[in-house]
Amino acid sequence: MSEPGSPMLDISNTPSNPLELFHRWHQEALTAVHEANAMTVAAVDAQGRPSARQVLLKQADEQGFVFYTNYKSAKAIALETNPWASLLFWWDKLERQVRIEGSVEKVSAAESDAYFASRPRASQIGAWASSQSQPISSRAELEARFEEYERQFSGQPVPRPPHWGGYRVKPERIEFWQGLPGRLHDRIIYLCTSEGWSKQRLAP
Ligand SMILES: Cc1cc2nc3c(=O)[nH]c(=O)nc-3n(C[C@H](O)[C@H](O)[C@H](O)COP(=O)(O)O)c2cc1C
Repeated sequence: MSEPGSPMLDISNTPSNPLELFHRWHQEALTAVHEANAMTVAAVDAQGRPSARQVLLKQADEQGFVFYTNYKSAKAIALETNPWASLLFWWDKLERQVRIEGSVEKVSAAESDAYFASRPRASQIGAWASSQSQPISSRAELEARFEEYERQFSGQPVPRPPHWGGYRVKPERIEFWQGLPGRLHDRIIYLCTSEGWSKQRLAP
């Protein structure tokens, strides 16, 4: 068994629950890395074509990994027809990569409401103003829409737009990759089975 704090990963020094290891790595990344919550989310559209973009992780627990977006965006349209996603974290200073794959569902309206209410007002107005992923004629058009919604909601709380909310990726596979000198990197993959999580080492 390697020493506590050692970057080396082994079947014997990793917890049986991958969320425990994720939280440990995530906490370390939050102090070591700029934008540690940034993750790539890849989705596949109805034509079987993948697309990827960065989003921000807002919650990670036994239920899954949550991000928020526009439910009419390109990613949302892909996720509606094919509710599977792959998430990727790369924490450069720590030489760590985490890959998560699983099914996707919308978070409850109550969860989306609660998170939306916690956002800065400008972000709330922005969610109304931006038809994410749609063509717009100019930046001026976007700014005009922003001002229009600022006027509309002046002096009152901004409600969550019905087309804005969260997705939860429920993990079936979580892989932890630790870069090590000499290219003999460590990879431990956790697989969700009917008896709980199993894990195995993969060749780098
Ligand atoms: C670091 C970073 C974080 C981002 N976070 C989010 C996010 O949490 N939600 C979101 O909808 N877009 C976020 N974006 C913008 C997306 O990358 C993307 O441009 C947008 O969601 C539209 O993607 P789509 O057209 O593929 O649906 C972020 C971009 C960057 C670079």
